[in-house]
Amino acid sequence: MRQNPNHRLAGQTCIVTGANSGIGKEVALSMGRDCANVVVNYITDPAAAEEVAHEIESNDAVAKAIAVKADVSKEDQVQEMFRVAKQHFGTVDILVNNAGLQRDAAFQDMTLAQWQFVIDVNLTGQFLCSREAVREFLQRGKQDYSCAVGKIICMSSVHEIIPWAGHINYAASKGGVMLLMKSMAQELGPKGIRVNSIAPGAIQTPINRDAWETPEALEKLNKLIPYKRIGQTTDIGAVAVWLVSDEADYIHGTTIVVDGGMTLYPGFTENG
Ligand code: BGC
Repeated sequence: MRQNPNHRLAGQTCIVTGANSGIGKEVALSMGRDCANVVVNYITDPAAAEEVAHEIESNDAVAKAIAVKADVSKEDQVQEMFRVAKQHFGTVDILVNNAGLQRDAAFQDMTLAQWQFVIDVNLTGQFLCSREAVREFLQRGKQDYSCAVGKIICMSSVHEIIPWAGHINYAASKGGVMLLMKSMAQELGPKGIRVNSIAPGAIQTPINRDAWETPEALEKLNKLIPYKRIGQTTDIGAVAVWLVSDEADYIHGTTIVVDGGMTLYPGFTENG
């Protein structure tokens, strides 16, 4: 059994959306290692979500976890997920809006369905989950175990900054997430609710398999990364736990970019 000496989130409950794979999975495991109870949200592959919940409980003697199916873009399903979370754990203290997807197409070929699906999950999903979390934070009020009344992380992307040809729907959704996060932070800060984003660069997960699965692809990708390695999900998990802990209590309304320097315009290293 791996015990984390920090126990920074003991007594708190965290919902991580899209937690059955990729970044969401590692964030859920990391929250559990720091003793948070975790709701492992998923929409496909229940067995993988159950496995994450099981791993959280076997890694830490304190943390409890349940897998809960909900489509974050559907209001009734989001509300039901929060109802189940409160029934199991009493309240929700932390929300990680992680669920996100890509449906790539050349601009002229992009269908309305591709556009809408990405906006629904990546942007509307973050609105719906955040609204439910904030309702719970406000009705529960401040507790001794955390400086903040509640904490929200919006999983954004370097593509809230970097335009992305061929991925217009995705870049637009992440640009939207940036001002969703900042506007929530402005409005909810006075109520003691702390809101921030993490903007991952290229993290090795199924969403970008094409960019790393062959040595040629990886070499091409590394041209975009000054630090010269693809990111790992643990790079994000560590930041996420710290960001919702009291160690980061004065960080509010900002995006933490975790990208090995991808946003440093590496094309200018020997040009311009
Ligand atoms: C995308 C990945 C991509 C990365 C860097 C992420 O937000 O989901 O597919 O590799 O940005 O471009």
